[in-house]
Amino acid sequence: MTAGKALAHASARLEAKGIEEPGPNAEWLLADAMGVPRLRLLSEPDLPVEAAALLKFEQALLLKEQGLPLAYILGWQDFMDIRIKVDGRVLVPRPETEELAGLAADFLRTRAGELSVMDYGAGSGAIGLWLAKEFSSLRLTAVDKSARAIACAAENAEALGLAGRVEFIRAPELAVPGAPVDLIVSNPPYIPTGVIAGLAPEVLSEPRMALDGGGDGLGVARMLVRRAPLRLKKGGALIMELGEAQAKKLLGEMPSSVWQVKRASKDLRGVERFVFGSTVR
Ligand SMILES: C[S@@+](CC[C@H](N)C(=O)[O-])C[C@H]1O[C@@H](n2cnc3c(N)ncnc32)[C@H](O)[C@@H]1O
Repeated sequence: MTAGKALAHASARLEAKGIEEPGPNAEWLLADAMGVPRLRLLSEPDLPVEAAALLKFEQALLLKEQGLPLAYILGWQDFMDIRIKVDGRVLVPRPETEELAGLAADFLRTRAGELSVMDYGAGSGAIGLWLAKEFSSLRLTAVDKSARAIACAAENAEALGLAGRVEFIRAPELAVPGAPVDLIVSNPPYIPTGVIAGLAPEVLSEPRMALDGGGDGLGVARMLVRRAPLRLKKGGALIMELGEAQAKKLLGEMPSSVWQVKRASKDLRGVERFVFGSTVR
């Protein structure tokens, strides 16, 4: 069996099962099974596939056909320029969250001195750990309600050599009072409860706690808007990712007396997705 034939066969199978992006999914899974870079499969379609790799590929395809996210099968997801371990304990970090991390970095570059950041709803730890890697003086507090997510984030911190600068806290709310930080960055669960049942199987295999934001999806985000001013340094910021039509709504609930600067901004697809608020300097 050659790589080209294995790929053609696998993408047809995935397509027949209604899996999105059957071609790229098949490529990533075969590359992983063979232990070669994905692009090599495309440039060398005659590459022979050994029996052990074919078996591993077949097992992975079965999982993909059942609607498991690609990143869970591979066991990792690239986020900015770091590789994050992911599994059923955490949400798979999304491309728009890389934009959130970029906005957070832009804000941190405007701050002087030692930086302290809280990643609220840290999940795999992707956002906060990438920031900790970018800013060598940064101290990170990674908070999550899920003990399983905290365990995953701690494994990632260890693997990236960042554990010494990270504190992990399991909590269902932002604790106040507490040590003030420069930035609270959060990709909270923001899907309205009523929408969850209709989501794609890939999304439904992610932890419900990572998705469900309550009635209108803004439960955790609202709690952060209320409590964050009590945990931010002067001029500190809260930066959040939200779903479609939620950013403007939440912005309207942020009092100008507390949030000196506040704005919503769009992601690369043009969706108003990010909320930025900073407190009085
Ligand atoms: C959308 S996921 C984001 C994960 C990760 N930050 C990312 O962007 O990939 C939301 C995370 O918030 C956590 N979470 C949900 N409700 C929470 C709450 N009330 N307090 C703290 N964390 C919460 C979930 O366990 C989940 O890990």
